Amino acid sequence: MPIVAIAGGTSIGIGRSIIQAILQTYPNGEWNPIILSRSQKQPAWFSTLERKPEIKAVDYKDASTLLSALKGVHTLISVILAIDGTHASSQVALLDAAVQSDCKRFVPSEWACGPKGVLKVDLLAAAKTPVWEACEKSGIEWSRFNVGSFMNYLGIGCGENEDEACAGVDREGDMPDGSGSFLISFVSDTAELLVKDDGTVPRVTMTEIGDVGRFVATALELERWERDMDVAGDTVRLDEVVDIAERVTGKKFDVRRLGRKELEKQVETLVSEQDMLKRMWVQLKLMMLDDEVGSAVLKPVVNELCPGIQAISVEKYLTKYWAKKGL
Ligand SMILES: NC(=O)c1ccc[n+]([C@@H]2O[C@H](COP(=O)([O-])OP(=O)(O)OC[C@H]3O[C@@H](n4cnc5c(N)ncnc54)[C@H](OP(=O)(O)O)[C@@H]3O)[C@@H](O)[C@H]2O)c1
Repeated sequence: MPIVAIAGGTSIGIGRSIIQAILQTYPNGEWNPIILSRSQKQPAWFSTLERKPEIKAVDYKDASTLLSALKGVHTLISVILAIDGTHASSQVALLDAAVQSDCKRFVPSEWACGPKGVLKVDLLAAAKTPVWEACEKSGIEWSRFNVGSFMNYLGIGCGENEDEACAGVDREGDMPDGSGSFLISFVSDTAELLVKDDGTVPRVTMTEIGDVGRFVATALELERWERDMDVAGDTVRLDEVVDIAERVTGKKFDVRRLGRKELEKQVETLVSEQDMLKRMWVQLKLMMLDDEVGSAVLKPVVNELCPGIQAISVEKYLTKYWAKKGL
């Protein structure tokens, strides 16, 4: 049985979703997941697993630990997020070790908008593009899993089932109410509606984190992967999201319209080191305004390669977690 290693797979968001999905999709161990982590400590969510994957401790600055952990590994998937400036270098170290270990495939830590969009957001570009360049030079088979915005941001504040709804998503979005939501907050029933210069509203692709895991797990069996393994849970216009939210919750959202000029003004003021995260959220909005396939809008590439997996739509997700009792 081939081994798939998930670097950073201890994480409660994307790591957990991929591990859980592999264990569920291959109950007879047709694929054997292992985790590469900076520590051998089991994360709390392991308590929910019947079969616990092996955790191999690695030091991204010590190639020998990576080489030892990657012995016999078929596919290496990175979901790491290093905010200490080592994000790209640690992944290049992983890539080098994957090449030396004869891994068949390498997946860098993308899990975001498409590559054209990454180039428009400074923090993403700095973290991700050096890894793409190294992958390209390495000669290894490599693929980016681009999934759009995690749909799970829409679960922030839903109460009872919030842990399930948010699926480990961070709460760092820049909505002015401080809820950690992005573009729409169910905590204060407010929304920032992006409006293009021509007055229309852009589309955005969102995918639920659990669905990301299911698509990745199923894709393991595919003979050939595309360079861009785009996953499109649902692609909707932002005003449609607000309409669904109002219908499902029965509440009226306070909508603030935001255009390119205002966002460009905001971005000009966000230049200091401390403002980099805020700058990222504003640049993400500007990128969304481009309404471009390969940026905030993704083609359903993996959806078509794995037709047995049905992704949840925004409408179904919001109905599941926000519908008023009795509806
Ligand atoms: N599409 C979206 O809406 C969206 C939202 C958020 C994030 N993302 C993307 O998803 C990916 C993962 O993000 P996340 O928020 O899930 O990450 P995270 O939970 O913050 O971290 C993932 C893992 O990275 C490892 N890690 C942390 N610091 C590290 C360091 N300095 N060096 C090496 N490994 C380190 C940790 O594993 P160990 O402690 O076990 O080593 C951790 O469990 C990123 O590529 C990010 O861009 C996408």
